[in-house]
Formats: sequence, structure tokens, C-alpha cells
Amino acid sequence: MISAPRGTQDFFGDEAARLSWIEETFRRTALLAGYSEIRTPLFEEASLFERGVGEGTDIVTKEMYVFEDKGGRKLALRPEGTAPVVRAILEHDLLKTQKQVKLFYAGPMFRYERPQAGRYRQFHQVGVEYVGSPSPVVDMAVILLSVDFLRELGLSSFTVKVNNVGTFEDRANYLKDLQEFLRRRTAELDEEDQPKVDRNPFRVLDSKKPKTRDVVKAAPRVAAYLSKESVAHVARVMDYLKEAAPHLDVTPDPYLVRGLDYYTRTVYEVTSPELGAQDALLGGGRYDRLFETFGGPPAPAFGFAAGVERLLLALRTRAPERPPILLYFVPLDDEALKESAILTEHLRERGLPAQMDYDVASLKSGLRHANKSGFKFAFLIGPEELLKGQGILKRLSDGAQWPVSLNADAIAEQLKLRQEATP
Ligand code: HAM
Repeated sequence: MISAPRGTQDFFGDEAARLSWIEETFRRTALLAGYSEIRTPLFEEASLFERGVGEGTDIVTKEMYVFEDKGGRKLALRPEGTAPVVRAILEHDLLKTQKQVKLFYAGPMFRYERPQAGRYRQFHQVGVEYVGSPSPVVDMAVILLSVDFLRELGLSSFTVKVNNVGTFEDRANYLKDLQEFLRRRTAELDEEDQPKVDRNPFRVLDSKKPKTRDVVKAAPRVAAYLSKESVAHVARVMDYLKEAAPHLDVTPDPYLVRGLDYYTRTVYEVTSPELGAQDALLGGGRYDRLFETFGGPPAPAFGFAAGVERLLLALRTRAPERPPILLYFVPLDDEALKESAILTEHLRERGLPAQMDYDVASLKSGLRHANKSGFKFAFLIGPEELLKGQGILKRLSDGAQWPVSLNADAIAEQLKLRQEATP
């Protein structure tokens, strides 16, 4: 038998309902804040991520699904959403007509990572990008938007970790010194981290390996290399957050470096104690130079993306959101089956969620199913009812029943009446 590829999942039943609900909650939150939706292709030119996310990052060197299409183009399944959004803004010249562009997206991303709880090869992100303002107020607003979204989902225990990674210029000097330091001590690092010393020394900083962490403690800190403006920017973001959300748990984290090279100054992650090793619910930051990296005009920007599977894990105990299911039809012969199918359609047109199974059941098994599945009412139609033109509406909580004409308006009216009177 063929199974789903390693690191991918099928979503169905309650889990699929929760996933949709998370995405819908995100859409509502983003739309309310004035963002509009963008959908970009699931694959792009591989060079978009090589240049945008960074040639030395794990995402690009190890995790990207790269393939050649039949025309010989080198393409990649998108590992993240920011570089594609920036490409689309440039391609469609969106900054020409609007000074600030606010976009949100939701969809699958692909990274060839070692699968574990909360880490998959195909996963879903929801995210926003706010383009066109260098103000630290934007950093505050987007961070708070991401927190609002988590609260809308009913999550409350989480920490916002913030760091300042400086501008590209701040970082260039720092990386030289950091690399020199790490080169002297490469042998002491965890084996897994040793290749990063040459490729991307920054990433050694957020290693979770104890051996590496010991060395990193003594490494030079980026804070000492930041320009005055960079320091002031993130200090303002922290002040604004404190003022706007005094009870929010915001913690500076000097080891937070993120896995993408495009960030400048503010970076942040929201982590949840309910998750295991993969504890980041969402992450993001400022990226003031990415548009220029792609040959566009300077356009400062800030964004975040959340991992839907991580949210699902954090919400594990929560019941799925479903429309309330009210009425279940129990047809007792073929003619009643057809009549029930027409009535359910007419009721749905009136916004009443009525359901049925398209086969004839016995009264007993029909009622048992209705009870088990959480319906509030059953509607019984057999040969006798068809003859009289009246079915039987049965309230399942107490067994009370009423004859009702075989007509959607009459059923809707009775339902309303009897529902309100439910003991
Ligand atoms: P990221 O931190 O790479 O940032 O991913 C954002 C979130 O996606 C993570 O916090 C995590 O919840 C989820 N995620 C990442 N990898 C996986 C995986 N393999 N399995 C399950 N979930 C995962 C970005 O992607 C940036 N584009 C965010 C951003 C937007 N920065 C600025 N704008």
C-alpha cells in the first residue's frame, strides 16, 4: 500500500475542521486590521529564495525542494511566504499606487526537515507583510496583531521573544568577529553545528545543542556592534509594546537569530510552553533591505508567519468549531427518502443546517444515529406521514413530538418554536 510521503499529513474530521477554523480566524483578524489577501504560486524560481532567504541558510542549503521542470528551469517549492510576496509586489508594481501595502496569506509551505512533533515537510502558514514604513510603530502593531490572532484562537500562555539583529552593515562587522571566535573553537562545538561556522556563523548562536551553547556563552554579542539608530529602533519597539500591552510577556532574547538572512533590526518569535522542542508558534521581524536585494526600490517592511500545525498542537484539547447541527431526517421508505432530500435542500436554503443519510433506515436505527451524532431534533417521514402530508418532529432531549406539514417553512417555524422551548 502507498502511504503519504514522510513528513506530510492528511487532515480530515475534527482535525480538518480545526485547521479551517484557524485559517478563518486568521483571515477575519487580518481583514479587520486592513490587510488584503495575496495568493502566490506554490513554486517559484529557486533563485528567489537563494537570494532572498540567503544562500548560507539551512532552508536554502538543506531544506528546499528544488527540481528542474521540463523546460529546464530550476524551481523550488516555496519554503516560506515573504520572498514570494516581495516578488509579487515588485512584479505588479504595487508600491507605485499605494505608499503602504498590507497583505496577508495562508497556505502550504515545504521544507525538507527531519520530521518530529510540530515539524513537517509540508506545513501550513498564515502570515502578513506590512510594506512601506520604517516606523517602530509598525513593528509594535504587527507584533500585537499576531498576539491578537493567538488570543482570538483562545491561546493565552505564550511568550514574545524579541532581539535586535542590526542592519546588514551592523552585522557584517559582527559576523567577521563571531566567525573568527567560532573558528578558534570549532572543535568544541557539537558536530552538527561545525559546518555552520563557515557557512552561516549566525546560526550557531541559536543552536539547542548543549556543547555548542557552552561555547556560545562566551561568543561576542551582536548588541555591541549595533549602530545607535538600530539600538534606538528596537528600544522604541519595546517601549511601545510595554505601553500598548503592559501585561504581555515580552522578553529580550540575545540568542534569537531566526533562520532567514533578510531580517534587519527587530526579530521576534512567540513561543508556547505547551509545545515541545519545536516551540515557536510564529515568528517574524523587520526586513528593510529585501526589496533592494531583488533589484527593487528601498521599501522597509515588517511581517510574521505562524505555523498552523503548531497552533493545532497548542489547541489540542479544544473542541472543534462546527456549525450547530439541528435536525436529522429519518426517512422510512424510498418515497420518504426523496421527500426528505428535497426538504433538507429547502431548509438549507433557509440557513437551517438539516442533514440526512441517503438511505432508508428503520425508525430505531435512525433515532439512535440522530442521538449519537448530537442532533437536537429528528424528523420522521414514513408512508403514513406521506399520505397525511405531515411528518413528525421529535425533540431528542425529552422525546416530545409534534406533527408538522411537509413544507420547509412550516418545519423551520416549528423548529424555532420548539428550540426556544427546549427544557
Ligand atoms: P519561520 O520562522 O521560518 O519564518 O516560520 C514561521 C513559522 O512557521 C514558525 O514559527 C513555525 O510555527 C512554522 N514552521 C516553520 N517550519 C515548520 C515546519 N517544518 N513544520 C511546521 N511548522 C513550521 C518565516 O517563514 C518568515 N517568512 C516569517 C516572516 C514573515 N518574516 C517576515 N514576514
